[in-house]
Amino acid sequence: MSSQETAPPNEPGTRKWWRNPFKLGLSAAAIGLLVAAVWLIGRFTRDVPVDYDDMREHFKYGSIGSETASGLPYWIWKVLPEMFPEKFPGRAGYASFGFLYEEGRELPIGVSRRRSQGIDRVWLNCAVCHTGTVRETPGSAPNIYLGMPANNFRLYEFIQFLRAVALDNRFTPELVMAKIEAMGGKLDFVDRLLYRYLVVDRVRSSLFGLRQQLAFLNRQHDWGPGRVDTFNPYKAIQFNFPMDKLPREELIGPADYPSIWNQGPRQGMYLHWDGNNPSVEERNKSAALGAGVTPVTIDLRRIGRIEDWLWEFKSPPYPKPIDAKLAGAGRKLYAEYCANCHGMMEGARYNFDTHRFNRLGTVEPLRLIRTDPGRLNSYTELLSVNQNMLYAGYSWRFEQFRKTNGYANMPLDGIWLRAPYLHNGSVPTLRDLLEPAERRPKTFYRGYDVFDWGKVGFVSSVGEERGRKFFKFDTLVEGNSNAGHDGAAYGTELSDADKNAIVEFMKTF
Ligand code: HEC
Ligand code: HEC
Repeated sequence: MSSQETAPPNEPGTRKWWRNPFKLGLSAAAIGLLVAAVWLIGRFTRDVPVDYDDMREHFKYGSIGSETASGLPYWIWKVLPEMFPEKFPGRAGYASFGFLYEEGRELPIGVSRRRSQGIDRVWLNCAVCHTGTVRETPGSAPNIYLGMPANNFRLYEFIQFLRAVALDNRFTPELVMAKIEAMGGKLDFVDRLLYRYLVVDRVRSSLFGLRQQLAFLNRQHDWGPGRVDTFNPYKAIQFNFPMDKLPREELIGPADYPSIWNQGPRQGMYLHWDGNNPSVEERNKSAALGAGVTPVTIDLRRIGRIEDWLWEFKSPPYPKPIDAKLAGAGRKLYAEYCANCHGMMEGARYNFDTHRFNRLGTVEPLRLIRTDPGRLNSYTELLSVNQNMLYAGYSWRFEQFRKTNGYANMPLDGIWLRAPYLHNGSVPTLRDLLEPAERRPKTFYRGYDVFDWGKVGFVSSVGEERGRKFFKFDTLVEGNSNAGHDGAAYGTELSDADKNAIVEFMKTF
């Protein structure tokens, strides 16, 4: 036997391992564990949004990446109206807060669904603040307009609702699980474990965090439907500003949702209500942060789709006949009084040319425009510095935010759909805006979507309809002043006939 010969096959140490029942068992267990581990890793790292080919569907229901960091687990979203019906005004579920439902859809417009970190989550997208409705008459069905301000959406009340859930001692894993089962929720084994031992407690503690971070909301006034304080929650959530130390005049900055069509021609204009940023891309991404994405979770590809689409997305035409002769008279007056700051309709399209209309897209100082200072003061130099430092190292970091001294001269395309008017939504109709401030309505209702075809805006005298209450807007409340944008230069001293003509012309925008 040569020394190089290998050991005979039947030597104990080298016997084929699969002949040993003990080892065979161990290996089978190991393979089983491995398969389970791969499955679990797949389950917990898979990040799957529901996708839509159609752009309108994507805008309404597609993900921008907000679910992972800010979203509610799908089944929590489902059970909240069942567990706490009394916390939904009028007991109408999420519709109580002005979320819009379409037939055959389980989630409302502006809420998307995505599987991340092992469970399905839902949260907000652009459409929740940028989609609204119009009814022709009280009896007609609402028309949904994408890109118009969300005239129904009551974000203040929705946030206050979430903050209240954090404290409710019915919000326990046991009761939530029982409710999910009662609703026929089909959770798999892992989901059940997760919800029972992790998810409910985690949601509760993050709602509690929200409760603390946004405690300053209790010192603000209800924004009402169609408005949000854009930058104060941003200060608290993104930058942990000590909100209790902010001077009062920085704390009250309610702003109307703007329309977001025709973004292409807006590139380079200083926009947002106070003109704090000239870049369409930065305004879009900043908005996404407002909806709850983070630099890690932001879904740039899916937001990019929206960005491209909004670039040329047209404002909807006025749906009723327009008196051409009256509009023609209005055109001359508008060209003389208004066009230099706002641009105007020419032929079949809106002319956004900032060379020709040389104040369009610039900022009108507060001392001249004299509208409510709240929104302007809420955006500070310190906040702009913080925003511009945000996401250093990302190619898309913000660079162009700045503090201004007034409000932006913005284009008025699709203006008929953008009521109530001014940055704080303090003037119900176009016709009212052409009155001197002291003759504009001092209180009116917001949130009713029947159109006022005479004055152009929403009917603002209706406080309730079939048990649904609308929001009484008081212009004497801080942040709500309807002053400014008046005097000879703003057309408020013209005759009634001239004012009616200007309004008629603006219907063509
Ligand atoms: C929570 C509500 C909310 C969500 C969600 C939201 N926006 Fe906005 N958006 C606003 C408000 C309010 C403003 C006005 C900000 C200001 O100046 O105070 C605004 C402004 C804008 C503007 C600038 C408009 C102008 O002319 O000044 C654009 C563009 C925009 N949003 C796009 C988007 C996109 C794209 C998304 C989704 C990625 C989005 N928004 C999500 C509330 C929202
Ligand atoms: C000197 C510039 C200037 C002139 C002139 C001017 N505006 Fe304005 N306009 C502004 C500014 C700035 C705002 C925003 C003020 C705010 O929201 O606080 C505004 C806001 C508006 C709005 C509200 C927009 C919205 O989305 O809520 C309308 C409508 C409007 N102007 C119409 C007119 C009409 C009509 C005229 C002429 C009769 C006119 N403006 C003249 C600067 C001007």
